[in-house]
Amino acid sequence: MTLDLDRDPVANQLVNYAHTRKHQEQCGGTTSEGKPLVDVENSLTIGPRGPTLLEDIEVMDVLASFSRERIPERVVHAHGGGAFGYFEVTDDITQYTGGSVFSAIGKKTNIAVRFSVVMGNKGSSDTVRDVRGFAIKFYTEDGIWDLVGNNTPIFFVRDAARFPYFIHSQKRNPVTDIMHDWDMYWDFLSLSPESVHQVMFLYSDRGIPDGFRYMHGFGSNTFKLVNNNKQAVYCKFHYLTDQGIKNLSPQKAQELSGTDPDYSVRDLYNAIARKEYPSWTMYIQVMTFEQAAASKFNPFDVTKVWPNKDYPLKRVGKFVLNRNCTNYFAEIEQLCFSPSNLIPGIEPSPDKMLQGRLFAYKDTQRHRVGPNFAQLPVNRPFKVCNYERDGPMAFDNEGSAPNYCPNSFKGPTTSNSKAKRLTVSVNYTGDVARYNNEADDNYSQPRDFWNKVLKETEKQSLVGNIVGTLKMASESVQLRMVSVCTNVDEDFGKRLREGLQQHNRPSASI
Ligand code: HEM
Repeated sequence: MTLDLDRDPVANQLVNYAHTRKHQEQCGGTTSEGKPLVDVENSLTIGPRGPTLLEDIEVMDVLASFSRERIPERVVHAHGGGAFGYFEVTDDITQYTGGSVFSAIGKKTNIAVRFSVVMGNKGSSDTVRDVRGFAIKFYTEDGIWDLVGNNTPIFFVRDAARFPYFIHSQKRNPVTDIMHDWDMYWDFLSLSPESVHQVMFLYSDRGIPDGFRYMHGFGSNTFKLVNNNKQAVYCKFHYLTDQGIKNLSPQKAQELSGTDPDYSVRDLYNAIARKEYPSWTMYIQVMTFEQAAASKFNPFDVTKVWPNKDYPLKRVGKFVLNRNCTNYFAEIEQLCFSPSNLIPGIEPSPDKMLQGRLFAYKDTQRHRVGPNFAQLPVNRPFKVCNYERDGPMAFDNEGSAPNYCPNSFKGPTTSNSKAKRLTVSVNYTGDVARYNNEADDNYSQPRDFWNKVLKETEKQSLVGNIVGTLKMASESVQLRMVSVCTNVDEDFGKRLREGLQQHNRPSASI
């Protein structure tokens, strides 16, 4: 078996495996119980043409194992790739947080990262126009910290209650099972003006990154940092690519969707295998409680950015991905991130979207992977010591320690002052009710994006890209979206209307 150096590392995976074992004995095959395997390629039959026996335990085991291979794919972000590496602190932010991961300059913490595409199913293309997930797991001495972000600093909706409806509208039509029913897709977005900021980002040139290495990442939600003196600030996390930004043109992306739907996963694996380790520089933005109270925009609204000029980026560290997985299912498919995995020094903010996310992830993982998913090697923290027990696949299970508390038999302590949450006086007053924040300023920041960020050519591609799919929606939906964009800026709305007119069906009067 010779290594073909013209092929990329992804293509050479099996040849590499054989090479690394060249001088080793081939593994003696066993059943899953360890009994030596004999001829599992041929069933045990009565004579060469006779029926198979039920006592062919080996083959029955293989068939039973095979039919249980699939676990549910992630309900969103199903297609993705991941890798491992480390985070290193370069700048001191202990004035803001007591988080052990940031405790000293030069400190390194092992990390796992998973990149993903949001809407498509597991076998779908990763060069489509879609938000990219960018989730980081830090294996810290105080437990697991997950920063489960995207490649955009903002999101489509601001209240977790709307997330399932938003996702339904962007995925398969429940009757036809067609992915991207443009009526559903644009109907929801045009009825949710809060989404226009994210829509503008998604339909800009940055909407199709050239693989996962050439894009930024953002924690997106607002968090709270608490220092060792129990003083707190609000914070946003940003991780900016050291490779620079690179995007695919819509034409190239479409071509790749047909020829190499795993383009981005392949690119990440190949780069790491070739020792071209991708890295990102991490920054935070900080907002004091006083600034938050006086802020004109709601700092806990994930459809808004915190302007860099008012809340400058402070460099914190750098992370590097330098190891591919050795088995995708074990280490990436079963990797479980949750925004609720926080460590002392990093706490949630009142962000309504974050609050819902704190519940959703572990809930889905108990179903997707199993109730003891946290015991799997990729998800396991360095140390676990508590009163949770049993359930399917419990193999740590705390040995002989007492399983109740309080107890007088040296069971785990439950009052670690380090883990105590910050006591905050709640300055949110009002009646308990379901508040509709629909009318919150949805347009100022998108207007700035149109007028102050986008260059003329970028405006043209934004409009052209939106027209590319909006033209397939019903006329009333198109009209509503034009009116949302007109609210952002007259010129934006006008260009969109004109763009749609060029493509419209004869009945359309837009
Ligand atoms: C209330 C709103 C949200 C809900 C209910 C929600 C729910 C989920 C669920 C159920 C998963 C699958 C997790 C798994 O199976 O392991 C997931 C994955 C993910 N979500 Fe969300 N999500 C929400 C909002 C967001 C936002 C605002 C972001 C980004 C800022 C985000 C980023 C991600 C990422 C990156 C993943 C993939 C993690 C991985 O690679 O395993 N989600 N989300």
